[in-house]
Amino acid sequence: IQAAAVRIVEVGPRDGLQNIRDQIPTSTKLELIQRLEECGLRTIELTSIVSPRAVPQLSDCRDVLGNDRVQKSIKNTDLRLPVLVPNIKGLNIAIQHGVREIAVFISATEGFSKANINCSVEEGIERAKEVTSLALKSNIVVRGYVSCIFKDPYDGPTSPESVLRCVKSLLDAGCYEVSLGDTLGVGSPSNVRSLLTYLTQNGIPLANLAGHFHDTYGQAAANVCEAYRAGIRVFDSSVGGLGGCPFAPGAKGNVASESLVSMFHDAGIETGVDLPKLMQTGEWILKQLNKPTSGRIGMVASVN
Ligand code: HMG
Ligand code: MG
Repeated sequence: IQAAAVRIVEVGPRDGLQNIRDQIPTSTKLELIQRLEECGLRTIELTSIVSPRAVPQLSDCRDVLGNDRVQKSIKNTDLRLPVLVPNIKGLNIAIQHGVREIAVFISATEGFSKANINCSVEEGIERAKEVTSLALKSNIVVRGYVSCIFKDPYDGPTSPESVLRCVKSLLDAGCYEVSLGDTLGVGSPSNVRSLLTYLTQNGIPLANLAGHFHDTYGQAAANVCEAYRAGIRVFDSSVGGLGGCPFAPGAKGNVASESLVSMFHDAGIETGVDLPKLMQTGEWILKQLNKPTSGRIGMVASVN
């Protein structure tokens, strides 16, 4: 790995919490956001504004976004605090709360698209375009996600052509960056390499891509490393390795932010994140959620 800065997109308050069944107090979510900011994370996905029936855990999104301290952070131009939004209804709520960045999301595959956002891939693209266009008119910047880049829980393997079509549509619509989601966490470094080669050979700039790897089979950190080698410089991760989607059964959490930051720092690549503080935050949130701390999440003991 060569030295160069990377940007970490902390998705813990959204992806990390969305699939947890027991309702987490809003105050815990607010404290998590504050702690993550204090760790030096500069991009934090705050919550999602989606159907409360689809994701009951984040149905307090208005309380999170309306909180005085969060409102102050939203206005702080040193921070990027995207909110996940599926449709115009979500966008309008984001606008009402002064949100400056949203994330739209589509799937490269039909089965997950239907289960997750109740429409076809084509309809998903059209919806995302409409939301992006309206958001840009309101001076809101838009990030995009494409899910199931390698495999769909219902349809099986994903064709690279459908990933390309989705990525291109979101960039053409005006998303400044598209995060490639291995929703099921089934990819390996060689899959990452071939997909990125295919996308770049077909005109997608690496500078407009990010990696979003779930860790179902323990390959997520290796996938980040391979994507970094291929030229990606933005990675999504979740404190404590939390994460998962209610519509992707069996998938595990995101790559842990602690593991990512530790891996990069050990290689001399700056992230701007205070690792000991981040580790404390990971331990704290896992304790709040009555989840065991995993021995795999931590600091690389440098052998240099
Ligand atoms: P639908 O049923 O087709 O839409 O759902 P609808 O317009 O008929 O709305 C259904 C109900 O939801 C209505 O309420 C709406 O008002 C309400 P009711 O009248 O029945 O009481 N509603 C909303 N409420 C709040 N905010 C909104 C909103 N929109 C509608 N924005 C819909 C379609 C897209 C709304 C639904 O399927 C949905 O919310 N899906 C989101 C599911 C989700 O959040 N999944 C997890 C995030 S994606 C992910 O995790 C992958 C990612 O991490 C990357 C990766 O890992 O690959 C990003
Ligand atoms: Mg995800």
